[in-house]
Amino acid sequence: MSIRLSNVSFCYVNGGERTQVLRNLSLEIGKNELIGLVGQTGSGKSTLLQLMNGLERPSEGRVLLDGRDVAGKDFSRKELCSKVGLVFQYPEHQLFGATVVEDVQFGPGNLGWEPLQVELSAFQALKDVGIGEELLDVSPLALSGGQKRRVALAGVLAMKPEYLILDEPMAGLDPAGRREIFQLLLKLHRDRNMSIVFVSHSMEDVAEYAKRVIVMHQGKVVLDGAARQIFRFEKELEHIGLRIPQAARFMHRLRDAGFPLEEECITPEEAVQCILKQ
Ligand SMILES: Nc1ncnc2c1ncn2[C@@H]1O[C@H](COP(=O)(O)OP(=O)(O)O)[C@@H](O)[C@H]1O
Ligand SMILES: [Mg+2]
Repeated sequence: MSIRLSNVSFCYVNGGERTQVLRNLSLEIGKNELIGLVGQTGSGKSTLLQLMNGLERPSEGRVLLDGRDVAGKDFSRKELCSKVGLVFQYPEHQLFGATVVEDVQFGPGNLGWEPLQVELSAFQALKDVGIGEELLDVSPLALSGGQKRRVALAGVLAMKPEYLILDEPMAGLDPAGRREIFQLLLKLHRDRNMSIVFVSHSMEDVAEYAKRVIVMHQGKVVLDGAARQIFRFEKELEHIGLRIPQAARFMHRLRDAGFPLEEECITPEEAVQCILKQ
C-alpha cells in the first residue's frame, strides 16, 4: 500500500501566466508512516498535498495510489478523496452544516454510503476526536476554535481514509490545542494504523512527533529521512531558511565547544538525559 509520486512536475496556469511549483519530484508514502513535511513558505507543500488527494493533476509525471494511476479512468475522484483524506489549513472555515453531526455526515453521505453506515461512521469519528454527545446537535458556529477544528477533522475521518494528510493542522492554536491535535494524530496512527502526513512550521513539533521528515525547497524534495538524521544538517537547512529544533541547536553548540556528545538529541528531554549521562 502506498502513495507514489513519480517524476511529478506541476504548474499553476492563470490566464497566460505559468508558475512552475513542483519540479520532477519523486516520493513514496508507505503504510503506517508518520511524516512531517517542512519547507519555507512557497516551497510547494500545499500543492503537493493537493496532488496526493487528486485536487490537482500533475502537469508531468504520475501519482499512483496502490499502483493505480489516480488520473486513470477507473479511478473516481470520490474514491480518491475517501482513501486520501485531506484536512485543509484552517479547516473550520469550511464548516457549514446546521449541526455538528450533519456537518460530519456530509462527506460519507456524499460517497453514497447507506444512511446507517453514514451515521455510525460520523458518530465514531466524533468520538475519536473527543467531541461529546452533548455537542452533536449544536451549531458548529457555537463551538470553541479547538472544537471546531476537531469537528472539521472528524468530517474527514468519517470517510475512513487510509491516509490522512493535514496542512498545518496546528496553525493558530495555543500550546494546549496543539498538544491535543497531536495526541489525536498519534492515537489515529497507532489505533487505526493510519499513515499520516502533516505540514508544520514548528521544527519542535516535527522533532517531537514525526518519524520521518521530508524537506522541500523550491518545488523539490531536498532531504528525506528520520528526524534524527535530518536535523544533523543544520547548515544546509539554515541555507534554505529553516532552523533545526532549539534543543538540537543547543547540543550542536556544546559539541562545537568541545563537549564529547555522540548522540543526536532533538527534543529537550533527550538533551537533558544526554547531558546528565555525561
Ligand atoms: N492557485 C495558484 N495560482 C498560482 N500560483 C499559486 C497558486 N497557489 C499557489 N501558488 C504559488 O505556488 C507556490 C507554492 O505554493 P504552495 O504550494 O502554497 O507552497 P507552501 O504551501 O509551501 O507555502 C507559491 O509560489 C505560490 O505563490
Ligand atoms: Mg501551504
